[in-house]
Amino acid sequence: MGIFSSSTSSIPEVIEIPRHIAIIMDGNGRWAKKRFLPRVAGHKVGVETIRAIVNQSIDMGVKYLTLFAFSSENWRRPPKEVSFLMGLFRVVLIKEAVKFNESNVRFVMIGDRSRFSLSVVAEIEKAERLTSSNTGLTLTIAANYGGRWDVLQAFNAMQTAHPELASQYREADLSPYFSMHYAPEPDLFIRTGGEKRISNFLLWQLAYTELYFTDTLWPDFDNSAFKLAIKSYQQRERRFGRTSEQLR
Ligand code: IPE
Ligand code: IPE
Ligand code: MG
Repeated sequence: MGIFSSSTSSIPEVIEIPRHIAIIMDGNGRWAKKRFLPRVAGHKVGVETIRAIVNQSIDMGVKYLTLFAFSSENWRRPPKEVSFLMGLFRVVLIKEAVKFNESNVRFVMIGDRSRFSLSVVAEIEKAERLTSSNTGLTLTIAANYGGRWDVLQAFNAMQTAHPELASQYREADLSPYFSMHYAPEPDLFIRTGGEKRISNFLLWQLAYTELYFTDTLWPDFDNSAFKLAIKSYQQRERRFGRTSEQLR
């Protein structure tokens, strides 16, 4: 059993401040292009935005923040951009892990690690180990992550563990094997950069998440932009299949 209830098996509690926010940080390349800078300059500035949003999440009392940093399809980008992103990932991990730890942040990385270099994997594991007993914000970075990959790896792991249940699997049998088994489903999903799609992010977990799309490019996504997203979330009526009348 997962520790958190599922939005389809039972009705989650609705609270003012989202417990879990999941973000597709999009628009770094366009931000740079507008300034006649190389795309990678946008990724660099995007790291500053991550810092600010992490701190604001801590201040607001958000418990889980999940950031999509690199999708399983981003390997299709020019090799130069991919290797820049890998290098940036490693440097940021080294630099930020100590700071995360000082802020009581628990760091977790989800995604298929098998394609990362040994030095990147080593830094991921180091940061996870260092912060594993922290009790503040859980910051999850999704890297080489794909929602379909996650569903399939969960299913395969479940089947290996419980072959005797074949053809009788229920949702509760599967939930402990998802990459994000340690977190409740996201209350709020944010995508910056103007696109209105999920791009293979958390497919299973977004079943009843409130979706928020903004044209603001990720490097421009500041504290007030983040507050607007939270405000929009607070105005939603989360019915989970019921009628408005039933909520009163
Ligand atoms: C998001 O910004 C960051 C990553 C995918 C790593 P993009 O690089 O996708 O920026 P745009 O969408 O091209 O502007
Ligand atoms: C989604 O952004 C992935 C990340 C932000 C890491 P993309 O820029 O890769 O998405 P598409 O290709 O526009 O759907
Ligand atoms: Mg993009």
